[in-house]
Amino acid sequence: MTTRNNSVPAEAPANCPLCPRLVAYRQDNASQEPAWFNGAVPSFGDPNAHLLVVGLAPGRTGANRTGRPFTGDYAGDLLYATLLKFGLAQGEYDRRPDDGLTLAGAMITNAVRCAPPQNKTTTPEENTCRPFLQARIQALPQLKTIVTLGLVAHRNTVKALGAKIKDAPFGHGHEAKIAGYRLISSYHCSRYNTNTGRLTTEMFEAVFRQAVNS
Ligand code: URA
Repeated sequence: MTTRNNSVPAEAPANCPLCPRLVAYRQDNASQEPAWFNGAVPSFGDPNAHLLVVGLAPGRTGANRTGRPFTGDYAGDLLYATLLKFGLAQGEYDRRPDDGLTLAGAMITNAVRCAPPQNKTTTPEENTCRPFLQARIQALPQLKTIVTLGLVAHRNTVKALGAKIKDAPFGHGHEAKIAGYRLISSYHCSRYNTNTGRLTTEMFEAVFRQAVNS
């Protein structure tokens, strides 16, 4: 992994000022929907996680609304059901941050912590947010395995670990050893991927089965 800048915390402040386009979008959302979270969404889960799931960025009406990664997002239905199935979550997922769900041995974070317009991050935004991802990884003392959801999350995680994409090419279920971690890439559990059949429940579960079996 590239050297950590110790001044960077693992979580961006909710009102992080670093990406002008994302700040403007946040403010715009806040003026339309003042009751929503509308901030940099913190990671969620177990500080002793052995498994880290890295998503892309909060969805506008999902994690950006609720303040918990993937919570209220279509993609969260499959992700949380899968974590529950493999014993990585406890309780019941009910699409709201006060549903009482806890993660056990797992944590969920995003490569970019603020919701981007049209769900698309830019390379400068990914670069600016990456130190938080690096710090997040380094702050997990038990971490062994990282599952990346989609190419953008994968590319940014590989970079955060100080490696090159050729060292860990993206592919559903592809696994590489990078900086001492098992890095497993998955298609993103987005509505688009599940509706088009690019990703099935079985395919997604296979990745988590692989992740929990060392
Ligand atoms: N919600 C998130 O928090 N991250 C994603 O990648 C998608 C939806």
